[in-house]
Amino acid sequence: MQFPLYRPRRLRKSENFRRMVRETRLSVDDFVYPLFAVPGKSVKKPIHSMPGNFQMSADYLVQEAKAAKELGIPAVLLFGIPDKKDELATGAFAKDGVVQRAVREIKSRVPDILVITDVCLCEYTSHGHCGMLEKGSVDNDSTLEVLAETAVSHAKAGADMVAPSAMMDGQVGAIREGLDEAGFDDLPIMAYSAKYASCFYGPFREAAESTPQFGDRKAYQMDPANGDEAIREITLDVEEGADIIMVKPALAYLDVIRRAREEFDLPIAAYNVSGEFAMVKAAAQMGWLDGERAMMECLTSIRRAGADIIITYFAPEAAKVLAR
Ligand code: PBG
Repeated sequence: MQFPLYRPRRLRKSENFRRMVRETRLSVDDFVYPLFAVPGKSVKKPIHSMPGNFQMSADYLVQEAKAAKELGIPAVLLFGIPDKKDELATGAFAKDGVVQRAVREIKSRVPDILVITDVCLCEYTSHGHCGMLEKGSVDNDSTLEVLAETAVSHAKAGADMVAPSAMMDGQVGAIREGLDEAGFDDLPIMAYSAKYASCFYGPFREAAESTPQFGDRKAYQMDPANGDEAIREITLDVEEGADIIMVKPALAYLDVIRRAREEFDLPIAAYNVSGEFAMVKAAAQMGWLDGERAMMECLTSIRRAGADIIITYFAPEAAKVLAR
């Protein structure tokens, strides 16, 4: 395969050739669209660092889910921002909590879209950490019960899948056990398995009002420098019963996605997080990048790395590009 016998440019000559030999195809089937639920009615509040995204009350969420469904997007991922937060995150598992209501509303009005719920406590705790505090630090094992109870409350409201993101050790096992005991043995878990302590969650924390009130999340989320540890984290989640494993963020961790692809045969999700979205949007607004091409190139790279599922705020926009 040496020049001049092999000339790679021969198959790049025209779009038809390029189409024929293209290795990676992006499809709307791969997308999950994250949405932010707030209490009340007729609320649609823009999230400034995430242009085109909003905090929405259930009525607007239904509209948004309907629009997503019409674009062919198979699933939404719900986050909740409650009116009141407390030390014990009681809003997370309340029967009439913000996410539980939103799930019921969406599932009754748009039954044919999958509703996945994020299972974490940071949006519900007054201190903004992802678990129960004990002597100023996040206590692992007492948090597990609360996460399991939260997941069960989502299942009871009609969620199609739960996605634990708190990065507590043993959370997938605890949730699996809780769901099974409550009779939800057929409800799948999408585990945020390799979730890094990343600055790229910045815009999300504005959206979810979940910035920790002291300290950071480095004692439970992963060190960005570690790749082998991601394999250990994913292995644990697989052993605890995860149905889908996740790497998060996506773009700064494409190597981790690739390694996960090579080591595991479960479906892999990658979370193209808020900061990754915001970077593209900001550069496009400045006129420094072609926003649409940057979006498609980023999403394609996540698929090329080996992800099956892409959780992305670009979902509706990218779906429109793919449809034309
Ligand atoms: C935790 C959670 C976070 C995100 C998803 N689930 C934030 C965090 O860990 O601080 C970030 C998603 C994004 O940035 O788009 N509940």
